[in-house]
Amino acid sequence: MQDLQHKIAAHEADINAFSPSNAAELEAYRIQYLGTKGIVKEIFGAMKDVPGPQKKEAGQLLNAFKMLAEARYEAFAHLQNDNKSTEAKIDFSLPGTSIPTGTRHPLRVVENKIVSIFEKLGFSVATGPEVEDDWHNFTSLNMPENHTARDMQDTFYVASNPDWVLRTHTSSVQARMLEKGELPLRVICPGRVYRNETISARAHCFFHQCEGLYIDKGVSFADLKQTLFHFVSEMFGPDTKLRFRQSYFPFTEPSAEMDISCTVCGGSGCNLCKHTGWVEILGCGMVHPNMLRNFGIDPEVYSGFAFGMGVERITQIKYQVNDLRLYSQNDVRFLKQFEAIE
Ligand code: DAH
Repeated sequence: MQDLQHKIAAHEADINAFSPSNAAELEAYRIQYLGTKGIVKEIFGAMKDVPGPQKKEAGQLLNAFKMLAEARYEAFAHLQNDNKSTEAKIDFSLPGTSIPTGTRHPLRVVENKIVSIFEKLGFSVATGPEVEDDWHNFTSLNMPENHTARDMQDTFYVASNPDWVLRTHTSSVQARMLEKGELPLRVICPGRVYRNETISARAHCFFHQCEGLYIDKGVSFADLKQTLFHFVSEMFGPDTKLRFRQSYFPFTEPSAEMDISCTVCGGSGCNLCKHTGWVEILGCGMVHPNMLRNFGIDPEVYSGFAFGMGVERITQIKYQVNDLRLYSQNDVRFLKQFEAIE
């Protein structure tokens, strides 16, 4: 038994020191230790000389030795391929495995585009909370309690606190920016808004808007027109016409809605423009003096313009998406179609 132990110990040292650098050395090792006439086999043969009571212990010893010899071989098994030409194994003409990538959501693509057009004009991005208080969503925007204009938007109220609403428009961010009192102010405010509408192809209970606000000394309606003219030509192309229709919003005076010439039919009439040749894209106007006063700004000194547009609407016009529900269904067949756009 002691004899066996010595033998194994000597071999173990050799095995641990074995460090082949090529396939031939590895193969020589395999034959020497693991082959049919190898050392492992030979030592196992010595088992028969071990007296009965010690057989168990000897068996454990031998098994451990065998495992060591095999593990050492496995540790260098990668050398086996050394001699074989790797070129023969790899077929470079085979097409690669493509890794599927995600696509940007069309609404995000359009929002990014809107923001970047205004950023180049010196507007910075501002955001605000989606759960808003009455003051920022309504009252400060010249819509005091019981003002009929509140009915223009079906509001979700937060059950636990009737002063809180899910913001119905991004105009609430205008209020938050004016409140900071840092003038002049030139911001573009993208974000999600909520209204209590039944979901259909043409309406949804949440959608996205982009608000613009510019306050400085001497800002005029001409500045508003020129800014939006630039936006339209960047967004829809320089040949797109625009027109302003007189409208009403409590937070602007005068107020207007802006239409662009239909980008699908070019004005000759189609479903998108309901055969009028024009599609409405946003509301705008000169910031109401009451609103400026609400934030301690003197309307005799400062003036400004504001506008608000629906991101879904712009996307619908740009990519002819005619069902609002597609934007939130997460159907990859829809989303993949926007793969090629920025
Ligand atoms: N907040 C309006 C809406 O959700 C859109 C809007 C109209 C925003 C006129 C404005 C504006 O800033 O001047 O319908």
